[in-house]
Amino acid sequence: MAHWGITHTSVLALAVFSAGVAVTRSLAEEPPPVDQGLLNEMVAHDPAEAFIYAFDAGDELTEATFTSERGVGAYVGELLRFTRMPRPDLTGPGEWSQHLPMREGGPNATSCISCHSVPTANGAGGVALNVLVDPLHIGEPAQYLERNTLHLFALGAVQRLAEEMTGDLQRQRDALEARVCESGEPDVQALTANGVAFGSIGAERIAEVPCQVAFDTDGIEGVDEDLVIRPFGWKGTHATIRAFTRGAAHNELGMQAVELIGDADGDFDGVTNELTVGDLTALAIYMAALERPTSLVELADHGIVELGDEQRSAITRGEQAFADAGCGSCHVPSMTLRDPMFQEPSAHPDFGEVILPNGDEAEAHGLHVAQPVSFDLTADQPNNQIELADGSVVNLGAFERTADGGALIRWYSDFRRHEMGPALADPVDAFGIGAAVWPTRSLAGVGSTGPWLHNGHATTLHEAIVAHGGEAAASRDAYLALSAESRADLVAFLENLVIYNDPNAEEEDDP
Ligand code: HEC
Ligand code: HEC
Repeated sequence: MAHWGITHTSVLALAVFSAGVAVTRSLAEEPPPVDQGLLNEMVAHDPAEAFIYAFDAGDELTEATFTSERGVGAYVGELLRFTRMPRPDLTGPGEWSQHLPMREGGPNATSCISCHSVPTANGAGGVALNVLVDPLHIGEPAQYLERNTLHLFALGAVQRLAEEMTGDLQRQRDALEARVCESGEPDVQALTANGVAFGSIGAERIAEVPCQVAFDTDGIEGVDEDLVIRPFGWKGTHATIRAFTRGAAHNELGMQAVELIGDADGDFDGVTNELTVGDLTALAIYMAALERPTSLVELADHGIVELGDEQRSAITRGEQAFADAGCGSCHVPSMTLRDPMFQEPSAHPDFGEVILPNGDEAEAHGLHVAQPVSFDLTADQPNNQIELADGSVVNLGAFERTADGGALIRWYSDFRRHEMGPALADPVDAFGIGAAVWPTRSLAGVGSTGPWLHNGHATTLHEAIVAHGGEAAASRDAYLALSAESRADLVAFLENLVIYNDPNAEEEDDP
C-alpha cells in the first residue's frame, strides 16, 4: 500500500499547488507520468482508490500546460513548433508531412483545456478555437475541414452505449449466420439496437462444411459494415475515448503516446515517450467519469437555480414541440444502458485493443481486460455531489439508476449517422463516410455550448436547426411551420439542457 500512497499524495499536492499559485507556471506543474503498473497494483488491492487516482491524474493531465521538455509541439519545419494551418507543403526531412503517424492538423496548443473551455474547463469551444484538419494532405485551404470543439462531459456513458448497441447489432448478424448455416437458405435480418433501426443485413451460404457465409452489407444504414458504432468526433470516426484522445494529443498538442509510436520520436522534437500508457488510461477514465450534463428544470427542482413559472412552462411546451417536430427521431431523448459499469480497457472486443497502434500487445503494457480500472456510471462520479439547502447531498454527476440496475442516459442521440444535406457538407469526403453524413450530435449540454454545428457556423440555436437538410428536412420544415412562440419555446427547451459545475467544488481543493 505504502509505495503507491506516496505517489498518490504527490499528485494531490501538485493539484493544491497549482490551484494556489495560478499566476506563475513552472515546469514543476507538469504532472508526473502515470504508471500503468502502479494503477494495476491499486486495482488489485483497492479498485475504488485506483479509480480516484486515475480520475485525479486525468484531471491534472487535461489541465496541464505542457512544455517542450515534455514534448509538446513538434518540429513542423521552417523552425516552427506550432501551426494552426495544416502544412502538407512542408515535406522536408522530419517536417510536418513526415511525422508519424500522419498529421491531420496542428500542433496548435499546449493544453487540452485551452480549447475545451466553454462554459468551463472540459467544455466545448468558441470559433477562435476551431481546428483545421487536412487528413488527406490535400494542401488546399478551401478543402480543409473545420471542426468546432466538443465538450468532454460524461463520455463514459457514450462509449458504454456504443459498446452495448454494437454488441446487439453483432449478435443479430451472428444469429442470421447461424440460421443460414442451419437452413442453407439465403436470408435477411433487420438490424436494431435500443429501438433505433440500422437497416438490414443479408446472408447466403457459400460452403456447407465448415459452413461459410457471404454477407450482403448493402442494406446496412447509419453504421460501418463491421457494425461497430463509433460515437466520437463530429464525424463518428473513433470507437473509444482512448483512441480519440491519442489522436488529439498527437494532432493538437504534438504529444505522441508510447502506445501510438513506441520509443520513436514521431514528430522530430527530440523528445520520446511523451505520454505513457498510464497517462492514456487516466485521461480516458477522467473524461468517462466527468459529471453528466443536466437541465435547468432538474437544477431548479433541487433549489440550485431559480426558474420562473413562465420559463418553466415555456420549457415544457418546447419539449412537446421538439417531439412534435420529429427532432426526437434522431435526437432520441433517452436510452437505457443495461450495464452501467465503465471499464478501461474495455471488455468489448471491438473497443478494447489486443494490439496497440505501435504494434505491441496491450497486455505487455499492463492493459488487462480482466483487471481494468472501473467505475459505476450511476454512482461513482466524483464531481457535482452537491449539498442542498436542507443538508442532504445529491449526486448530480451520476446518471439515474433504473429499476433493473441499468442507467438512464439522456443523451439526445440515436448513435447512428444521417445524410444531412448540402448546407452541412464538408468540402471533401475525407473519411469515405460521405461529406454530408454525420452521426446525430448529442444535445446534452447544448444550452451551455455554442456556437453550434460541426464547424461552429451557427451562432444561434435557430440557425443550427435551419441548417438541417437531407434526412432532417421534414423535421426542419415542421420546425419552420411552427408559430414564432412555439419556435421560441423549442429553443427554450434546448437552452434548458445545460452543463453545470458545482461552484463550491473548487474550495475543497484549497488548502
Ligand atoms: C486545438 C484545440 C483542441 C485541443 C488542444 C484539444 N482538443 Fe479535443 N477536440 C477539439 C475539437 C475541434 C474536437 C472535435 C474534433 C472532431 O470532431 O474532429 C475535439 C474533440 C475531442 C474529443 C471527442 C469528444 C466527443 O464527444 O466526440 C475528445 C475525447 C477530446 N477532444 C479530448 C481532448 C484531450 C484529452 C485533449 C488534450 C490531450 C484535447 N482534446 C485537446 C479541439 C481540441
Ligand atoms: C435526421 C436526423 C436529425 C433530425 C431529424 C434532427 N437533427 Fe439535429 N442534428 C443532427 C445531426 C447529424 C447534427 C450534426 C450536424 C452537423 O454538425 O453538421 C445535428 C445538430 C443539431 C444541433 C447542433 C448541436 C451542436 O452541438 O452543435 C441542434 C441544436 C439540433 N441538431 C437540433 C435539432 C432540432 C431542434 C431538431 C428538430 C427540429 C433536429 N435537430 C432534428 C441530426 C438530426
